[in-house]
Amino acid sequence: MYPLSVVLSLLVAASVASRKFPPGFKFGAATSSYQVEGAWNVSDKSPSIWDTFTHDNPDLIVDRSNGDVACDSYHLWETDIAVAKELGLHFYRFSISWPRLLPNGHSNYVSEDGKRYYNNLINGLIANGIEPVVTLYHWDLPQKLQDLGGWTNPDLASWFEDYAEVAFSLFGDRVKTWLTFNEPVSFCDIAYEAGKTAPGITLPGIGNYICAKVVMLAHARAYRLYDTKFRLRYRGKVGLTNQLLWCEPKNSDEVENTELMRNAMALYSYPIYSKTGGWPPSVEKTIAEKSKKEGYSRSRLPSFTQEEIEFIKGTYDFFGLNYYTSRLVETAKPGEKLSWLPLKGSTDLGLALTADPSWKEGNAWLISYPPGIRRLLLWLKQKFGDIEFKIMENGYSTSEPVMYDDERVNYYKDHLEQVLLAINEDKVFVTAYTAWSLLDNYEWNSGYTSRFGLVNVDFNDPMRRRTPRASANYYAAVIRSHSLDLNNH
Ligand SMILES: *[C@@H]1O[C@H](CO)[C@@H](O)[C@H](O)[C@H]1NC(C)=O
Repeated sequence: MYPLSVVLSLLVAASVASRKFPPGFKFGAATSSYQVEGAWNVSDKSPSIWDTFTHDNPDLIVDRSNGDVACDSYHLWETDIAVAKELGLHFYRFSISWPRLLPNGHSNYVSEDGKRYYNNLINGLIANGIEPVVTLYHWDLPQKLQDLGGWTNPDLASWFEDYAEVAFSLFGDRVKTWLTFNEPVSFCDIAYEAGKTAPGITLPGIGNYICAKVVMLAHARAYRLYDTKFRLRYRGKVGLTNQLLWCEPKNSDEVENTELMRNAMALYSYPIYSKTGGWPPSVEKTIAEKSKKEGYSRSRLPSFTQEEIEFIKGTYDFFGLNYYTSRLVETAKPGEKLSWLPLKGSTDLGLALTADPSWKEGNAWLISYPPGIRRLLLWLKQKFGDIEFKIMENGYSTSEPVMYDDERVNYYKDHLEQVLLAINEDKVFVTAYTAWSLLDNYEWNSGYTSRFGLVNVDFNDPMRRRTPRASANYYAAVIRSHSLDLNNH
């Protein structure tokens, strides 16, 4: 018999153990090329659609700024690596600027300067024990390809495959985790719905759906290319990452509508991860019926051929998830104008989104609802099976560059707790967590007014001085402890 105190301490030890992340679980942080690199016109780099858009439309950016210099990571990449190392990151997720690597957009010409920059970054990370995780497309399309129709031109799927082939060939020996796309919902739905982000084209209900189909095919082409030409040699993993909101019914009458909205959130996941492939049937049916009523001879959401369905289905090695916030779903009022940004709902589905008033912490659209990430992971597992999940973005913004960012610390703490519950209680196979963002950076239409960094960047300083915030210290302690019970030494 053990004395009671020993039994109690064993129990405490057991509960402590459950606050540990599984062995091999990896922590990282992310950025993207346009948001941090700057150097928009150095060497032979050609403009991206975000260069053009911000230069032509400063009035659509809160502080009329652009990414011409941003964090100047093009010059300060060594500082970024040092910061990542200080945090103890297992991996650093960054994106390649397509027009920096392929100034023509096409793969007939590869920039020596682009090659050198990404080789330096990748080699520098590896030399410091940090794994590079690379996104091929984080929204900065070469303007030259936009001039040919951008993501509404079906040929872009093959040009993206060509770009992917260059990147896999150049860097695949060292990069073992690839994301084809970051958040198609942002550059298809949000972009074409309102025209207030690059490429600045307003084609609601049309452009976004053509974009959606082309992107699904582009992703599948890149994945299958990796499979046939690179996998045996390099043994990496390829996926994409989608931002999904978790949705709950506003009241008991909205249960079915909420499931429809969850499926709509999974528009860019269903064709890849579902057993049947293709668009989520309930969403496809709703849009087809609405298109018919509106007098269109075919659905505004272009259908897939059976061959395309098979081509896209199963093109993943993991599920990349970006999660920030949740919403309640309710039937929209007749004629109510809704939009993805700022997350008001979907006109096509006739469903409105609101935040629950009891979700208190938040900044603009980013209202903190930590249980959302756990419920979403479970829903995805139930929907798509017991696959590998990598959380590729999660994080919190403030409008002021506060250094003692308690709100952000709480956001990370609360969400990491829910990720642990998803792993331990719901048995969801989650292998990675990525904080957005390593650095304050160019936050699209919010310019430099929205701060997401674990590390503060002084944008008034020509040297763009980086200073870790309280949240950076917290995250570093989590990584060191590999647990939410921090051993602070
Ligand atoms: C690059 O752009 C900057 C503005 O961001 C401008 O001042 C500079 O002259 C440009 N350089 C070249 C080589 O065009």
